[in-house]
Amino acid sequence: MFSETLFPNVLLDNWQMMPWEQIGLTGVLARVRPKGALEIGVYHGGSLSLTSQFAKHIIAIDIDPAVPGRFPCPPNAELRIGNSVNLIPEALASFRERRLPLNFVLIDADHSEAGVQRDISLVLAYEPEEPLFILMHDSGNPATRRGIKSADWGRNPHLHFVDLDFIPGQIIEHSVANGRAEVWGGLGLAYLDGTRRKGEPLIRESAGVSIRCLHHCAPDLSAVL
Ligand SMILES: C[S@@+](CC[C@H](N)C(=O)[O-])C[C@H]1O[C@@H](n2cnc3c(N)ncnc32)[C@H](O)[C@@H]1O
Repeated sequence: MFSETLFPNVLLDNWQMMPWEQIGLTGVLARVRPKGALEIGVYHGGSLSLTSQFAKHIIAIDIDPAVPGRFPCPPNAELRIGNSVNLIPEALASFRERRLPLNFVLIDADHSEAGVQRDISLVLAYEPEEPLFILMHDSGNPATRRGIKSADWGRNPHLHFVDLDFIPGQIIEHSVANGRAEVWGGLGLAYLDGTRRKGEPLIRESAGVSIRCLHHCAPDLSAVL
């Protein structure tokens, strides 16, 4: 199958991303080649199995104690089980102690507005000396998007740019039932580096109108079905 060429040795079963998100993530990781990477939300190890092919060292966090029994942990990954509230600050401290630059973060855990806002806020405590890319999965979901939009991005002086729709979200086909559907997916991207920002950060919704249309249509699909 083509997946053996595009995603060799990646755990595709149960990976909670669409193919365009998977290949977008691959592209970012192939360009960034993170020294340090942090993954918040592991589930069945799909995204972790990809990140481990490009990053030197990964700390991966999940609250579910069943996670370590689901897949073989890659040798360059440390799987830590617990709430991101505690484990994000601990992971950032580990990277600092080891003098390992954090170049990549995937936020894909608690998708509620408060949960997303909190995880972003905790990650923004990090002061990068090198480029740092933060990807946020499910930026198309209404609650997750509110969490991303309400985060205090400006508090980190190294934060330069956010696009909520680096890859836009979509109506999930298998959620369509009884004339309605749910909007999930999408990857938001934030960029930080060692320089201090002048002025306000650039916060962009490059597919903002499309996403608003999806949110408007999803609760009543009678006009399109
Ligand atoms: C959507 S899944 C992650 C999918 C994974 N990144 C992938 O692409 O295959 C979300 C995961 O976040 C975990 N999670 C939810 N709330 C959390 C929290 N507060 N702290 C840490 N992990 C959490 C869940 O246990 C679940 O495994």
